[in-house]
Amino acid sequence: MTFIQRFIEEMPKAELHLHIEGTLEPEMMLALAQRNNVELPYKTLKDVRKAYEFSCLQDFLDVYYLGMSVLLTSDDFFDLAYAYLEKMNTQNVRHVEVFFDPQGHTERGVSFDTVMTGLISAFDKAKGDFGITSKLIMCFLRHLPEDSAFETLASACKCKGYIHGVGLDSSENGHPPSQFERVFKEARDNGFIAVAHAGEEGPPSYVGEALDLLKIERIDHGNRLLEDAVLTQRVADSGMAMTVCPLSNQRLQVVKNLADHPLRKMLKAGLRPTVNSDDPSYFGGYMNENYLALQAALDLSHDEIIQLGRNSFLGSFMTDKEKQKSLEHFDLFTEKFS
Ligand code: ADE
Ligand code: ZN
Repeated sequence: MTFIQRFIEEMPKAELHLHIEGTLEPEMMLALAQRNNVELPYKTLKDVRKAYEFSCLQDFLDVYYLGMSVLLTSDDFFDLAYAYLEKMNTQNVRHVEVFFDPQGHTERGVSFDTVMTGLISAFDKAKGDFGITSKLIMCFLRHLPEDSAFETLASACKCKGYIHGVGLDSSENGHPPSQFERVFKEARDNGFIAVAHAGEEGPPSYVGEALDLLKIERIDHGNRLLEDAVLTQRVADSGMAMTVCPLSNQRLQVVKNLADHPLRKMLKAGLRPTVNSDDPSYFGGYMNENYLALQAALDLSHDEIIQLGRNSFLGSFMTDKEKQKSLEHFDLFTEKFS
């Protein structure tokens, strides 16, 4: 293993773009289907893995929503989240900001409380067992109507202390952020911070709408932002972080090859990209695999990796004091590593 590979693996880092439902490994999918008597169109691990060939975001989303149908009880959500956090502990991930998609569950008759109970107990246990800190971000599914988002927000308002922010995900094209302006205003008025998937497949104007109408504090993906030089400069000047997901971009064919990935261009443009896994079980890698693949494809330097690691804490929603502490620990690690 090279110096830079070891550095990546051991570097303390934060994950800021992770859908908990996207950590459902094929083994767990089949085990939960059996435990809960859920019929799946897959019988073997080979069948499941065969379904993981995607030509675009929608292709993936169809499989992702089908996969999550095995999640029924609080124990299922606990097992899912704790397995992810155990893995992150082995990858030196110290802080996670995790998306969940309640409408993907309430639409199937699984209650909001069932989801929350399982997730919260897993995050609490991981804090005690590994010292990993976490924040939950509840996403609205943009292919569903505004009414459904408002209903979901009402449930979130009942557990305000446990949910840090709201996000927007699912099928991007044809569902501009403007469709959710009112629900985001109500969410912000209730104290939730806002983020949104924008510019993954959708045009740069969706990033502009997410900034101006949803008043987001971080951009999820944002690859296509670079097509608009004026907007790029504005985001760079703001210091806002972007949660970039290299293996996801490759598997959903947002980029043809990882070597074409825009991350270095983002750094050169003065933006603040971070590296994340999105839906690791579907896209072939967790945090370290994303860093390693991107480093190899773009030949990222030691300094660029350090920049990305620092960005992960700087771009997080930790308090200034927590950020300072994490960065001191990070800087000590980089000084001592040999
Ligand atoms: N839901 C889970 N992963 C997603 C992604 N990459 N884009 C949009 N919605 C998602
Ligand atoms: Zn995502």
